[in-house]
Amino acid sequence: MAASDPELYDVIVVGGGPMGLSAAYQCAVKLGKRVMIIEQYKFGNTYGSSPGFSRQFRICYSERYLCQLAIESSKEWDKLMLELNDSSLLDKTGCLWFGDATVESGEGNIDKAVKNLKELGVADYELLEGKEAIQNDKRFSFISNAVKDIDNPKALYTVDGGTINVPAVIEGLYKMLKCSGKAVLVENAPVKRIDYSDVDEVRVWIDQQPQCIRTKKVILTPGSYVNNVLSALTPAFTEKINLIIYLWSSTYFKRSPSSPAASMKTWPIWFFFGQPKENDLNLYYGFPSEKKRPDYARVGSAFTSSERFDFKFDPPDVSDRPLDQDALCFTSGFVKKSMPSLSSKLLPEEHSTCIAGFAESSDKDDDGVGFVLDFLPEACSNKRIVLFTGGWGMKFVPVIGKILAALAIEGKTEYSQLIKPWNINRGVLVKERSTTIMAQQSVKPTRLQQAAMFQKWAG
Ligand code: BEZ
Repeated sequence: MAASDPELYDVIVVGGGPMGLSAAYQCAVKLGKRVMIIEQYKFGNTYGSSPGFSRQFRICYSERYLCQLAIESSKEWDKLMLELNDSSLLDKTGCLWFGDATVESGEGNIDKAVKNLKELGVADYELLEGKEAIQNDKRFSFISNAVKDIDNPKALYTVDGGTINVPAVIEGLYKMLKCSGKAVLVENAPVKRIDYSDVDEVRVWIDQQPQCIRTKKVILTPGSYVNNVLSALTPAFTEKINLIIYLWSSTYFKRSPSSPAASMKTWPIWFFFGQPKENDLNLYYGFPSEKKRPDYARVGSAFTSSERFDFKFDPPDVSDRPLDQDALCFTSGFVKKSMPSLSSKLLPEEHSTCIAGFAESSDKDDDGVGFVLDFLPEACSNKRIVLFTGGWGMKFVPVIGKILAALAIEGKTEYSQLIKPWNINRGVLVKERSTTIMAQQSVKPTRLQQAAMFQKWAG
């Protein structure tokens, strides 16, 4: 195939969410490749993992490699903000992890994160130990009541942490791609077939003109829709990702009339670790107020869900997704006890639910925390199709975009050691729905069982 073939793309990206746009940005804008991005709905839709405004960015992790990857991602966020000329993409508010340091949760563990930060030479963090130290620190008075009943609480504050402005990330990448002259963005185009039987090119079929697009390489960033996309592969890819999909609800609370409006915007992002109580996992997270909504702050209860899906997933619109009313009630109780600046009244119009898909491995020692980032294993695909799915990855968007682009174009990445735990051959591929999952599906797991399941992936 001639290199100058005008109809042959260098890369087609399937999935136009933040991860796909980031990969396409790296390929088209940074590396000058000809790229097509195919999105099954409209760009900027709310059907993916991260609807709404905010997601957390943090560098504290229990897993060393995630801590390292987050530090790399932080540098990439800084570069991206310069390149897109938008400093609002990641508002570095700082990150507060606090509560009971003996708690091991899907989010991590305070002591393990401190150990990693220390060993990786991160200087910008503080560790407060004991109730008094935490409750006397004015920076944390907005929430420090939460440690009242904990014997030896700890608070880990990292400067590198903050709020990711998801719509601004999507819009910024989209605009850069549009202006680049290197990228074609196609929306409302579910992929019908990805034919990799020809050794020289891959053909991607959609229901729009041109129906068949030819490319050298393919990047798949389908999020929770991964098994739909894999089923379009020709020759058939007979396995599926063992993806378990959770729906997590969070909500916004209004400022209580007696508190000053200004203070809410200076809060760090935060995560509270408590011991589970009956049905309440006692793990909460939240954000400062957003520029456009100074009187509201988002708070959520982590790792809860009343719904579990696997494999076949027919995603409801964000407004139709089931709300986890129990989790919202627990969250309101937490706000009432611990956050004096907020009114704990639940406001139904402020609720939302996001999709969190995690690849479950059959290996009990798996430390891939639900992520998959690898070439498809099929011999014939010959490193031409690279896949990212699963995990909880908004904070890694710029660095994963870079990794996907390097893998697709050069066949390798400088971050190969860090992404090893995300390889596709670690027991996340299954031929069919396993009986355990069927059984779990038919009996709704309790919250604590759900947390334990999540913990298994989170290491
Ligand atoms: C979020 O960014 O939405 C998030 C952060 C921590 C736990 C769960 C969700």
